[in-house]
Amino acid sequence: MPTSPYAFIDELAALRRDLHAHPELAFQETRTADIVARELERYGLEVHRGLAKTGVVGVLKAGDSPRMIGLRADMDALPLTELNEFPHHSKQPGKMHACGHDGHTAMLLGAARHLAAQPDFDGTVVFIFQPAEEAEGGAAVMIEDGLFEQFPVEAVFGLHNWPGIPVGQMAVMPGPIMAGTCGFEIEVRGHGCHAAMPQQGVDAIVTAAQLVQALQTVVSRNLHPCDAAVVSVTQIHAGHAWNVIPESVLLRGTIRSFKAEVQETVERAIERLCSGIAAANGAQIRSLFDHRYPPTVNSAAEARLCQEVAQDVFGAANVLADELPSMGAEDFAYMLREKPGCYVWLGNGPGTGGCTLHNPHYDFNDALLPLGITYWSTLVKRLLPRAG
Ligand code: NI
Repeated sequence: MPTSPYAFIDELAALRRDLHAHPELAFQETRTADIVARELERYGLEVHRGLAKTGVVGVLKAGDSPRMIGLRADMDALPLTELNEFPHHSKQPGKMHACGHDGHTAMLLGAARHLAAQPDFDGTVVFIFQPAEEAEGGAAVMIEDGLFEQFPVEAVFGLHNWPGIPVGQMAVMPGPIMAGTCGFEIEVRGHGCHAAMPQQGVDAIVTAAQLVQALQTVVSRNLHPCDAAVVSVTQIHAGHAWNVIPESVLLRGTIRSFKAEVQETVERAIERLCSGIAAANGAQIRSLFDHRYPPTVNSAAEARLCQEVAQDVFGAANVLADELPSMGAEDFAYMLREKPGCYVWLGNGPGTGGCTLHNPHYDFNDALLPLGITYWSTLVKRLLPRAG
């Protein structure tokens, strides 16, 4: 594992901690964006602002090759109150960098700084600092706002710190790495009545209970056993009184999958169960689906290239190629729908003591800063080599 070859690493760690102390939520990353833009300008990059409101793009050109690649970091924090007590803990109650996007931003800034000082490549690198990864799909908004028309990159690359993978290791896999996500809402409408006289009504609670049980068969009985999906009911809302059978029950939950056809099969199976169980009970059931992030799918050639880069940086034994994909979601998926590319997991160390993503005790591990910079810089030099 390389030691830090970067003289500015302490300054960068201080910047990372400053970002951690001042987290900003989706599309409100104005302070963060100001810092990112100021730094990029200071390193000599051309800076573009305004994509997806708070997005920042830095452009670094070397040599005369027309080739262009994109590197992306996310900048937003989570609506969560931090429970850490170290000096750089969040100064904003209800806002926290609990996913390490402060570290992603710092690592990409470090790569920009290093490559600007030693532009040992031929082509253009587009440094994409995007807002609103957590739930609002900032990547999709940047694309709608013309990211890839303005910066027609041939491929795009992303990185996430990963607690549970040791520092000095990286997971790089081709194909699906993060799931697509879809919310669902099901309203079961019966006929409310006195709890002591159930024969006078249609019991929405009993109907909903049957439905929750039946939903457990959607994945197990409808999908190929080697296809992955999750259907989880996460909310049940009904009733206010001890002695009233309520008129209706509201169920909500989430579906995770890696393929459009699997998602489609799951939705049709849910609809079939809803109408069958409604008929069996004399109730009415309406379902609706709220499609959110698509699956994050790495293209084969770019994943292979990133594997080679990671092997150069970390050593072959430290590059994991057969980690299971995560059922979590990631809005870099939108960029990978438009462009080939690869999203990797950089080990953040043990996921212990609450140091897991979205936990109120999480903190980005600053030991990753030089590793991330070296990964990004090596990737650029490999993809955009100087002739001779
Ligand atoms: Ni994240």
